Amino acid sequence: MMEPFTFPGFDVGLRPLTSGDLDAIMEWINDPEVTRNFAGMAGEITREQEAAFLEATFASDTDRLFAVVDRDGGYLGNAGIHKIYWPAKNGRLGLVMGAARGRGRGLGQQALKLLCARAFLELGLHKVWLVHYATNARMAHIATKLCFVPEGHLRDEYFHAGAYHDMVRYGLLEQDFEALAPVWGTIRT
Ligand SMILES: CC(C)(COP(=O)(O)OP(=O)(O)OC[C@H]1O[C@@H](n2cnc3c(N)ncnc32)[C@H](O)[C@@H]1OP(=O)(O)O)[C@@H](O)C(=O)NCCC(=O)NCCS
Repeated sequence: MMEPFTFPGFDVGLRPLTSGDLDAIMEWINDPEVTRNFAGMAGEITREQEAAFLEATFASDTDRLFAVVDRDGGYLGNAGIHKIYWPAKNGRLGLVMGAARGRGRGLGQQALKLLCARAFLELGLHKVWLVHYATNARMAHIATKLCFVPEGHLRDEYFHAGAYHDMVRYGLLEQDFEALAPVWGTIRT
């Protein structure tokens, strides 16, 4: 099996997500503690729905899905590059550390750095961006700590669970990544 994509000193790696990860995903997909920061989650997601979603996403040219794994290859969560707009070479980052043992240990930050590396070094993107609920203080802290550049406070951007929600958007350009890579403890390959 191909080794996960990682950097020296990191405790996590990224490998392509597969349908074999469905069991692990089902363990968190309906846990409000994990998914309350997602938009568009309308009710319980069945195993069949999630399997269909994965197959459609695997086949899509505008999405790349990865599993975040620990040093032993154990599944910790999903990381993705979505809405890839190839003419401008940009894409939206998504990250969920679904396994409770993966959260709050600095591993999400490592996964986000690796996701950026895959976006810029492998896919050749020019820009990545992410949005989070304005109330998601943990994600705001991480985006700021990793030097993502704030690009706007989007008022009433999402409608979810019967209410409008403000979102915050951050971006990172390839030249930002070039400058940050040494600070992030990554190497160019
Ligand atoms: C958001 C998520 C990916 C972060 O991964 P993680 O592994 O838990 O995060 P880390 O441990 O790497 O980093 C958490 C940081 O946030 C800080 N933090 C935690 N709670 C916080 C809060 N309420 N306010 C501000 N900062 C907070 C921690 O102190 C830590 O920062 P530090 O390293 O400077 O001390 C993960 O918690 C998760 O999957 N959450 C649910 C889904 C989600 O919100 N995804 C993002 C949608 S855009």
